[in-house]
Amino acid sequence: MQNFSSSIQSHNGFIQAYRKDEDGIRAELSEGLLASPAVTSPKYLYDALGSRLFAAICELPEYYLTRTEAAIFQAHLPEMAEAIGPGRTLIDLGAGNCSKAARLFSALSPQQYVPVDISVEFLRDSVELLRQRFPEIEITGVGLDFSTTLDLPDAVNKRNRLFFYPGSSLGNFMPEDAVEFLRGVHQACAGEGGLLIGVDLVKDKQILDAAYDDALGVTASFNLNLLLHLNRLLGADFNVRDWAHRAFFNENKSRIEMHLEARRSVTVSWSGGKRQFAEGERIHTENSYKYTRESFVRLLERAGFGETKVWTDPRGWFMVCYAKLV
Ligand code: AVJ
Repeated sequence: MQNFSSSIQSHNGFIQAYRKDEDGIRAELSEGLLASPAVTSPKYLYDALGSRLFAAICELPEYYLTRTEAAIFQAHLPEMAEAIGPGRTLIDLGAGNCSKAARLFSALSPQQYVPVDISVEFLRDSVELLRQRFPEIEITGVGLDFSTTLDLPDAVNKRNRLFFYPGSSLGNFMPEDAVEFLRGVHQACAGEGGLLIGVDLVKDKQILDAAYDDALGVTASFNLNLLLHLNRLLGADFNVRDWAHRAFFNENKSRIEMHLEARRSVTVSWSGGKRQFAEGERIHTENSYKYTRESFVRLLERAGFGETKVWTDPRGWFMVCYAKLV
C-alpha cells in the first residue's frame, strides 16, 4: 500500500499524490501473466506511445465514441449547463490534455477546475495554457491513481463538486467494480454535487467489432504495444511478431474483449517468471462494458445517486448522464 500523506508533493498549483510502486507493479503483472487465462490491467496500455495510439484511435472512422460524445455535448451544452449550474468544483477524472473539460468552461463557469491524472507531468503543459485562457478559474492539477483512491488533497474544494468522467472510461471496470467506484464518487461529493459521465451503449455487434478492430490496424498496434511496455516494465522478452490482436463484442457479457493471441507456441521469460503459451492461447488485455440506458441508470441508483438526466445522439449510440446526488 502506498503511504498517501508522505508521498504528497505540492508545487505551484500541482499536487502529486501518487508515487509509482515499481515492485508492486511487477508483482501484479507477473501474477496476471501466470494466471489462466493470462490477464493484464488495461492501464498498462498507456505508455507514451500507447497514449498517442489511443489518440489516433479517436480519429478513426470506425471509432465513433469520441466523436459521438463530442456531438452530444455540442448539441446539448446549454441545457446541461442549466441543469448543472455555475460555480462548481469541476473534477476531471483522467483529464489527459484537458480538452474535453475545456470545451465546457464557457457554458459551465466552474469556480475551480481539478484535472486528475496518474501523472502531473502529463497535465503540466495543458494546464499552463488553460490558466492563460481562463484566468478566472482556479486550476489545481492532481496526480492520483483515482482507480485506487478518490481521497483528494485539501486544496480541492469540498463544496459543490461535479465529477466529470467522459469517454466511457467506466467501461473498463467490471460492473460490480463500477458500482463500487461510483459509490466512491458519490461519497466524495460530500452531501452535494453530482456526476457528469459519458457511457457507450449496446448496439449492433458489427459496429462494435469494427470500432475495436479497425481496418488500418491502429487498435491492433495499440494492443500489441502493450507487449513492448511489458518488456520494459518487467524485463520480459515478448516478440510482437508472435502475437495477434483479437477484439470482439461478447454479447452475453455485454462487453468488448481485447486479447493478444499467440500465433505459434512461444515461451516468454521475465524477471521473476516464465511461461509457455500454446498456439492460440490468449492474454486478456481489456474489457470495455457497454450499457443500455436502463442498465446504466440502475447502476447509478445502486451507487446511491438520485435523479439522472440523460442526453443521447440521434442514433442512440452513446449517452451523457448528469446524475444528481439525491
Ligand atoms: C479509453 C477505455 C474508453 O474502451 O473504448 C479503445 C479504450 N480500447 N480501443 C474504450 C480502447 C481499444 C477505450 N476507453
